[in-house]
Amino acid sequence: MKNKLTVRNIGFLWDLGEPLPKFGSKNKVAIRAAMPKDRGRLRKIVLEAYLPDWLWWVRKTGGKERARADLMSYVNEFLGDRERRIFVAEEGGKIIGFSGAAKHDRGTGTIGYGVAVLPGFRKRGIGSMLLLAALDWLKKSGVRFVTLEEETFGFANKDSPAIILYKSLGGKIISDQIFSQARV
Ligand SMILES: CC(C)(COP(=O)(O)OP(=O)(O)OC[C@H]1O[C@@H](n2cnc3c(N)ncnc32)[C@H](O)[C@@H]1OP(=O)(O)O)[C@@H](O)C(=O)NCCC(=O)NCCS
Repeated sequence: MKNKLTVRNIGFLWDLGEPLPKFGSKNKVAIRAAMPKDRGRLRKIVLEAYLPDWLWWVRKTGGKERARADLMSYVNEFLGDRERRIFVAEEGGKIIGFSGAAKHDRGTGTIGYGVAVLPGFRKRGIGSMLLLAALDWLKKSGVRFVTLEEETFGFANKDSPAIILYKSLGGKIISDQIFSQARV
């Protein structure tokens, strides 16, 4: 199994027919929809906000610059599409985290690329605020069912911070599988 990577893949579902959880925060953080002019600032932090948790994926993708380019191609797709939106958390003029949301047909949507917060700003409720902003926008756009697929490495037997976050804000686990992938 030396050249195998064990990845846990978890599927979440939100039914937005139910009220969104209330979330009070004393943060001096502004959450807003990202605009095309944020592209440069997002590029600077897009990879760092996933680290170190996603280092396994960075290695699999072929290194940091490949991973950053990969993430930015998704960001660019989201920024140029009315059916998709990125939300950013900003503090003191710096973008410190983001989340993504995408509408599909017939009242369904996804949280695209989850939620990510720069390591120095975690555990202050910012991830929760970003996830709620994304869910709230989907709900106001007429979306009822929202899915999210999360991959983790090293969390086969316990929940990662992201899983704890999604569960704490009403996400129901609808699939939970362990896969062995080839290491690159
Ligand atoms: C997941 C992530 C976005 C959480 O952001 P955050 O700003 O720290 O989240 P919050 O402060 O809102 O915490 C949300 C909940 O998770 C819990 N939590 C957050 N980090 C935790 C940790 N390291 N260990 C245990 N619980 C944790 C909080 O206690 C809170 O639970 P509660 O509501 O029951 O108190 C952040 O850890 C991150 O960016 N990780 C790397 C990127 C990633 O894996 N994103 C998801 C997939 S793309």
